[in-house]
Amino acid sequence: MNIVYEVLSEENIYSIKDLCNELMAYQKSKAFIHPDFFDNMCFETRMIPSIKSAKANYIIAAKDGDEIVGYAYSTIASKFTYSGGFATLQCDAFFDFDSVKNEDVGSLSQFYIKENYRNKGIGTAMFNMSMNWLNSFDSIDDIFIFVSNGNDNALKFYLGKGFKISHQILDGFITVLRNFN
Ligand SMILES: CC(C)(COP(=O)(O)OP(=O)(O)OC[C@H]1O[C@@H](n2cnc3c(N)ncnc32)[C@H](O)[C@@H]1OP(=O)(O)O)[C@@H](O)C(=O)NCCC(=O)NCCS
Repeated sequence: MNIVYEVLSEENIYSIKDLCNELMAYQKSKAFIHPDFFDNMCFETRMIPSIKSAKANYIIAAKDGDEIVGYAYSTIASKFTYSGGFATLQCDAFFDFDSVKNEDVGSLSQFYIKENYRNKGIGTAMFNMSMNWLNSFDSIDDIFIFVSNGNDNALKFYLGKGFKISHQILDGFITVLRNFN
């Protein structure tokens, strides 16, 4: 297996549409609090609006030959983007805006690797590339990751990379992680 990492341009995001939808199905399969919330989440309701509203986007694909076997999607966006609402859900703010001194925040927004390619270090490589990109912005001090309930492997992965649990939102549907500089 020879994995090559490639930054995708926004014109090429449709190449990860199926993987994005697999991620939503995976998260639904793990969730025990409101799994139904995922029913309205798909590439069109999560990825496209997020790309349009962000100030900068970074999508890396992991390729095995011609096949895309994973992707990581990071964004830079105004903190007020997180005022409430997540795909088609309405909720309170995702975090306390006063705890973020800058206008913009970074987020590792979506992360998915096909099952047969997990636990081989590919996620760590893509995580590091994503953090390097997010940290390359002088305006970014705060980085968030939103993990849906039941996804304990992902939670453990991010805690192992230095992220800390901040709080939960949507009745425990999502655990908010942040970097706490
Ligand atoms: C979460 C996810 C992106 C992590 O990617 P990954 O490629 O499996 O991650 P890695 O292989 O780098 O690390 C996973 C584990 O394997 C170990 N590992 C790292 N390199 C390894 C290697 N070369 N060989 C074997 N194991 C390795 C790591 O120590 C890590 O253990 P830890 O979680 O206890 O720290 C991936 O598992 C995934 O796509 N999961 C399903 C979707 C998902 O949950 N996405 C996150 C949504 S918030």
